[in-house]
Amino acid sequence: MTELSPYHEDQELDNNTSDNIHFRDILEQHISRRSLISKTASGAVALTLASTLTGCNDNDNNNSNNNGGTPTPVDPNQKPEKLSFSPVSKNLDDIVTVPEGYQATVLYALGDSINPTYAEWDDNNIPSGPSFQFRSGDCHDGMHYFGMNASTQRFDESISDRGLLVMNHEYINPTFLHPKGPTKVDGRRPEDEVIREVNAHGVSVIEIKKDKTSQKVEVVKNSIFNRRITGSTVMDFAGAAAGSALLATAYSPAGRQTRGTHNNCGNGYTPWGTYLTTEENFIGYFARSTTDDALRSPEEIIALKRYGLKAGSGSRYGWESAIGGVESQDLYDRWNADAKADMATKDYRNGPNTFGWMVEIDPFDGRQNPVKRTSLGRFAHEDSACRAVVGQQLAFYMGDDSRGEYIYKFVSDAKWDANDINGGYAAGDKYMNAGKLYVAKFNNDGSGQWIELSFGKNGLNQTNAVYPFNSQADVVTFARLAADSVGATKMDRPEWCTVNPENGEVYVTLTNNSNRGSSYPTDAANPRTYEDLYNNTKTQKGNVNGHIIRFRETADLTTAESFKWDIYLFGAEASMAANINLSGLTDNNDLSSPDGMWFDPRGVLWIQTDDGAYTDVTNCMMLAALPGQIGDGAAATTSNGTETLVGKKVTDETLRRFLTGPKQCEITGIAMTPDYKAIFINVQHPGEDSDDYATPASNWPATQTNPNNTTARPRSATVVITRTDGGVIAG
Ligand code: FEO
Ligand code: CA
Ligand code: CA
Repeated sequence: MTELSPYHEDQELDNNTSDNIHFRDILEQHISRRSLISKTASGAVALTLASTLTGCNDNDNNNSNNNGGTPTPVDPNQKPEKLSFSPVSKNLDDIVTVPEGYQATVLYALGDSINPTYAEWDDNNIPSGPSFQFRSGDCHDGMHYFGMNASTQRFDESISDRGLLVMNHEYINPTFLHPKGPTKVDGRRPEDEVIREVNAHGVSVIEIKKDKTSQKVEVVKNSIFNRRITGSTVMDFAGAAAGSALLATAYSPAGRQTRGTHNNCGNGYTPWGTYLTTEENFIGYFARSTTDDALRSPEEIIALKRYGLKAGSGSRYGWESAIGGVESQDLYDRWNADAKADMATKDYRNGPNTFGWMVEIDPFDGRQNPVKRTSLGRFAHEDSACRAVVGQQLAFYMGDDSRGEYIYKFVSDAKWDANDINGGYAAGDKYMNAGKLYVAKFNNDGSGQWIELSFGKNGLNQTNAVYPFNSQADVVTFARLAADSVGATKMDRPEWCTVNPENGEVYVTLTNNSNRGSSYPTDAANPRTYEDLYNNTKTQKGNVNGHIIRFRETADLTTAESFKWDIYLFGAEASMAANINLSGLTDNNDLSSPDGMWFDPRGVLWIQTDDGAYTDVTNCMMLAALPGQIGDGAAATTSNGTETLVGKKVTDETLRRFLTGPKQCEITGIAMTPDYKAIFINVQHPGEDSDDYATPASNWPATQTNPNNTTARPRSATVVITRTDGGVIAG
């Protein structure tokens, strides 16, 4: 990848060249269209389950949860029967557009101070690198709102007027982060620029307050909870790989700690009130010399290749080239993954193994280190959805976002006990260290299996043909290799996961896959390959517009090892042929490349896009949806002749565009106050393809209040949307 040029996630390479068993099986299978429909025709199971759900994806409406009491059911009065806000038209305007009667306000943009002693942002006076420890990071992404009890100063899911907003800063747009773009001096990155870049990654915790009458939301600038976690923050390891030789570095020879989290994309949250941040495209931050393979074992080379760090790989930002002065040289050397010393405890050859994890952060506790929860596996983590049912074990659903990668689930050994709410990292130790990791296999007949990834099971042992596994630490650290060897299904870039609070069905966005139909043959779960013309010039191929798959565990148990699935929604342009536009999208709801996605506690599904296929017609967007359930549609055949199972066609009342973003942005991250009167979204990388800092292709967020601004720097930012009459969003 070209260093210092704008980074696009679809640049990530295909690393899954495994010829896993399932691959062959699925080609030989044929859809049994009756099998799915007959099993899911009754909605009775859904109705009984709704009253037992708690935590994670429905926590805000269970007002009795904080004392550990019995959860209350989803309030049917709060879910709209149909969508009735005025749909936002597709457009290429440089502004966030919301429906009539709604207002969008910029809340927290790149560089904004979270400490009163630091000056406000000034486009013409970019602050120092170290000051970004007290400023908003860049490229805002996954996000969650945690209500705070005013007297206990702890998590209280019922509180809307005061809370902590926690969000990821996935990566950086160096063109606009620095005074005059990124530079190199004698082939090296200047230290202050590197410090600014490292600090602009990670996570923000900011306290916010909302006026009960006007619904106006503000950041509490002097809050003791305001905090930045960056690419340098000390983190502890816990779970199956903690203390393993695979995590040993010069910084922590015992493999118990590392510094920093980065490429934090989607997010999750736990029913006990902590935040989960996911390390996605972490591998691109490391460099390896062409000569390094000669110093590595055959197993190390297999693993490095599978995770995309071949010998000769350059790093995305060149952090390893900086000369220490303000910080120790060691902080920069760690981005070079060469075997330099005589043993791994004296260099950073294992540095890449210390990233790619699910990280837990207790936003209410700034004293303890965040914890990397290794039992949930290491891959390009994108998002996590936890399904919590009192008395059942917890299930965490997770995607690995690269072309042809897998969907995973972690099931805790411990059963969910609502008394653990506000249990902090101790609750994390209880639910996220001991448990089983699984990977999904989707069969063409609408059934599926969770295949257990445990050392000693399913061929995961020393004689495994893909990789010689010697421990569970090996299995979780190289989860992709374990998944390859058990025949998991290669998916079209799994992004966000969410659980329908009404029936426990799990939804996963599959954003697109330019190589579906070529290096990845179609199957029923990834059934489309077609061509689309972009801007009348460039032909795009594969699964151009993405889809959303959903599945339901057998007997609705979090511990189930099988499930049923169908495809809830196919992205498409409204004008595309019916066997591509299989969900019946119209101008009011057509979309491409679904990515961010979240069921709010009422059961309204919010879908966000990170697109490069329909952006010749419209900027990225967010839509609201009222989905049905698995089996409410029919069998279908795609334009390329692949049979699949598609959900009921959408209508203008069940899927509607709620918002469009400014130029060259992605819409991502979603959170709501539990009174449903404020909704938060992130605008990531507006103007990302600008040629130069002096010629910005977007001037947002300045354009939000002055549409005529043509000079301001584009900055990623959090936006809060409220109704002008103070009413319920999409109510
Ligand atoms: Fe960072 Fe897969 O989006
Ligand atoms: Ca097109
Ligand atoms: Ca994403």
